[in-house]
Amino acid sequence: MNAPTNPVGPPLALLAELTHRCPLGCPYCSNPLTLDRVRDELDTATWLRVIDEAASLGVLQIHFSGGEPLVRRDLATLIGHARKVGLYTNLITSAVLLDAPRLESLKAAGLEHVQISFQDTDPANADRIALYEGGHEKKLAAARMVRAAGLALTINAVMHRQNLAHLPEMIALALDLGAGRLEVAHVQYYGWALANRQSLIPPREEVRAAVQAVAEARERLKGQLVIDHVVPDYYARRPKACMGGWAQQFLNIAPSGLVLPCHAAQGIPGLRFDSVKERSLGEIWTHSEAFTRFRGTSWMPEPCRSCDRREIDFGGCRCQAMALTGDAGATDPACELSPHHARLFETASAESAAVPREFTYRRYAKTPREEELPAEELPV
Ligand code: SF4
Ligand code: FES
Repeated sequence: MNAPTNPVGPPLALLAELTHRCPLGCPYCSNPLTLDRVRDELDTATWLRVIDEAASLGVLQIHFSGGEPLVRRDLATLIGHARKVGLYTNLITSAVLLDAPRLESLKAAGLEHVQISFQDTDPANADRIALYEGGHEKKLAAARMVRAAGLALTINAVMHRQNLAHLPEMIALALDLGAGRLEVAHVQYYGWALANRQSLIPPREEVRAAVQAVAEARERLKGQLVIDHVVPDYYARRPKACMGGWAQQFLNIAPSGLVLPCHAAQGIPGLRFDSVKERSLGEIWTHSEAFTRFRGTSWMPEPCRSCDRREIDFGGCRCQAMALTGDAGATDPACELSPHHARLFETASAESAAVPREFTYRRYAKTPREEELPAEELPV
């Protein structure tokens, strides 16, 4: 057997989280529980420099995300610059703030692809999940505008026990809107989603039915719609290769400038993240403590260390290992070789059978000063 390794090539894609501000409050948001404030956000000049560094490093795609990236007034400037230095540009948005003039300006700047999230196909349930009245209708209109503008469209559908029954309708909606791709992404349980797990996790039979429905739709819609499927691995026998392996393909920049190997990495205590304000992106990618800590295979404990799949799934997800075992360096409990695997399955079965709780919606924590302010003076 070969010795475990720590290889490092160039990253494929950069997720640029421009802001944590967002008009929606989805209870499974992938942003951290402690959200960056507007005063913490990187300024335009720093983002332009970072985009240059990403292109020099070999990054091919940039995904402008948030929070809601449309709240940044410099979005067109950043998209234009990314395009100029040869990056493929994608906007990941809820689209409730997207109107025709804004879309026109982003397209003129060089935007190539738009990904719009849908919470459900039932408007009332969608708006309840997003905590945004009238949002579903706005998304439908925005998706049609994107296609009319000739831009590529992906629909992102985060699925859970409170919308999974509408999966066939979601596939039909993506087709109707003219999307080229549909991401059926079951909730992954970190951060906000972990806090809402009991309200979100579907029973195993429903997950199996969804897997079958996606397989059938893929066959039926070959050449018309590409369907990606992220399955919840609480019911799996082996974990997913989260992020294609820690620090192997992707980097994330949080609104404040911290560079993360994945969107949920700040949930791992004791890991030190570098900022683009202090080091170049290239140095951080190659040398920073957070990126090198779990890169490759040499950090692995048993059973991963001597497992044939160690360079296929890279031991699963570090954030899930942290959330479920308290040790980010443990084998992901989604793996049946983990000593925690049986408990994971039992938890999933029990929670999915229980009555769902009220959602804990994503929102900013109040600072001590804000605790004293009247509601109308609070930040969003
Ligand atoms: Fe993957 Fe580790 Fe499980 Fe092997 S033991 S399948 S490397 S998580
Ligand atoms: Fe962080 Fe999987 S979400 S490694």
